[in-house]
Amino acid sequence: MCGIVGYIGARQAQDVLVSGLAKLEYRGYDSAGVAILQSEQDGGGIEVRKKAGKLANLAGELQTAPLLGTLGIGHTRWATHGLPNDTNAHPHATEDGQIVIIHNGIIENYLTLKAALMQRGHTFKSETDSEVLAHLIEEKYGQVGGNLYEAVRQALGEVRGAYGIVVTHANHREIVAARTVSPLVMGVGEGEMFLASDVPALLAYTRQMVFLHDGDMVVLHDDGFRVTDLAGNEVQRTIEHIDWDAEAAEKGGYDTYMLKEIYEQPTALTNTLIGRLHDDSGEVNLDINLDPSSFKRISIIACGTAYYAGLVGEYLIEQLARIPVEVDVASEYRYRNPLVSEDTLAIVISQSGETIDTLEALREAKKYGAKTLGVINAKGSSMTRELDDTLYIHAGPEIGVASTKAYTAMVSAMLLLALWLARARGTLDEVKAKELLHAARELPRLVEEALSPERVENIKRVAEKYAHSRDYLFLGRGVNAPTALEGALKLKEISYIHAEGYAAGEMKHGPIALIDSDLPVVVVATESRLLEKTISNVQEVRARAGKVIALLSDGDIENAQHADDVIYVPRSHEMVSPVVNVVALQLLSYFTATALGKDVDKPRNLAKSVTVE
Ligand code: F6R
Repeated sequence: MCGIVGYIGARQAQDVLVSGLAKLEYRGYDSAGVAILQSEQDGGGIEVRKKAGKLANLAGELQTAPLLGTLGIGHTRWATHGLPNDTNAHPHATEDGQIVIIHNGIIENYLTLKAALMQRGHTFKSETDSEVLAHLIEEKYGQVGGNLYEAVRQALGEVRGAYGIVVTHANHREIVAARTVSPLVMGVGEGEMFLASDVPALLAYTRQMVFLHDGDMVVLHDDGFRVTDLAGNEVQRTIEHIDWDAEAAEKGGYDTYMLKEIYEQPTALTNTLIGRLHDDSGEVNLDINLDPSSFKRISIIACGTAYYAGLVGEYLIEQLARIPVEVDVASEYRYRNPLVSEDTLAIVISQSGETIDTLEALREAKKYGAKTLGVINAKGSSMTRELDDTLYIHAGPEIGVASTKAYTAMVSAMLLLALWLARARGTLDEVKAKELLHAARELPRLVEEALSPERVENIKRVAEKYAHSRDYLFLGRGVNAPTALEGALKLKEISYIHAEGYAAGEMKHGPIALIDSDLPVVVVATESRLLEKTISNVQEVRARAGKVIALLSDGDIENAQHADDVIYVPRSHEMVSPVVNVVALQLLSYFTATALGKDVDKPRNLAKSVTVE
């Protein structure tokens, strides 16, 4: 996450930066900072001010002692590398203060780059990965004869990772920026130009905007801009007129936060995975202190959607790392006198990090000496303050009450954890590990594919066809049994249709009695070891006149004949398929709810963060 704002023009930059950053605080609030090119009469040079904590801390200081100047860059941080203190806050400057940068994202190879730069005499002030960029650009700047754009371009050629980067130099009246993964939008004014991570930051100043693409670089001057790719070739980007009101802007132009968040999943997953997969060695780097040999069993504890992510986690950890895992609903865990001791690792999973049931269950596990690890989205939340270790999922803020991107990010984080444990405990050889790492790396692309307009249109058609059903049944097997449970939960919470999720093989032990010609049955029947068995369950539904909606892997024509309706999903490795498959079910529930006219962002009786027992 992190928020970025840049300005060049005739206004006082400080005002634009502070008001823009205020609209981006949702992207992070660990610290804030600005850098402003001082006017000639104030002695020129770039002045940096940065402060830990919320933007208000910095804004107060700037109000008392303003920075004057009409070119500036600003940042609000969500810490990834290094504590949220003044030094680690952005902007970062070179030692001579000439070059200043802000960065949103993660530089995967920063340790290697930093070591080489230190050997060449650079000294670092912060613990961030971002500061590496300032030094690298400084070095290139010297080599390319003082061309800032070229220096940034060449520096980025050595960087692996995700970035929205904005750079300025005391001797140049220009701002150079680039993006890969992390978003950047440019605002075009009369004799002034703006940059930001998101539209709401710029709406007060201009509605003429350019959405930069992955791999774009841009140079901003007072009276215009130039976009190139990272190879230096000019590219054309159209200026769009944005007529969204403030609320629509916050939803990124989508009708609802939920839909926006469904479409944000490829980016969210990139952020979950980035810097953590080392394909060359088959290793996973999670940046946690946990000793993988210090426990004999694992207890996963969570609520609702996070609990279903825990069920997928159980499957993955047991399969790959061969450690016994049990999964508990948090509200039950603390009252069932659980068997927990020093040889237990308690893993809590939570988007908000505030759910009281999960927080109390965490305290219960700690009381008996368990080691604790959190798989959490919200930085600095209550759970993170009590956990031994936290594996952040980096999904970004989730506002829609029904969880979507946090779920797929949690499941991906559980996959990373399972791989990490398996490698550390020697239960997964390098070849198999590389195969799974590759499958994980593919996830953002596969989810992007799962969101293609044709697929979405098909799911909408199916949703509308069955929207007036009274009940729904969801079935799945193996690692996708929890996908069925999550599909049912999503549908009931936003459409209020009664839905049940079952492991497909369990259907004959009771739920089969529900089947008649009015019951749509969604069957997750994508490629897997158990596909044939799942198809037998499909036949059982058909034999009782139930309506089968089959989720099939692309190209599976044979099994399509058993279904009334087919939703094809991109083929993926079975172990990662819950992430890809659930996207179709999120959309199915979304379009069912909208067909019924429900308020999907605020379903009745529900709250985003449940802080009562
Ligand atoms: C359902 C949903 C809830 C949450 C649950 C736990 O879409 O969002 O079931 O998953 O309330 O919340 P967190 O993850 O914040 O602990």
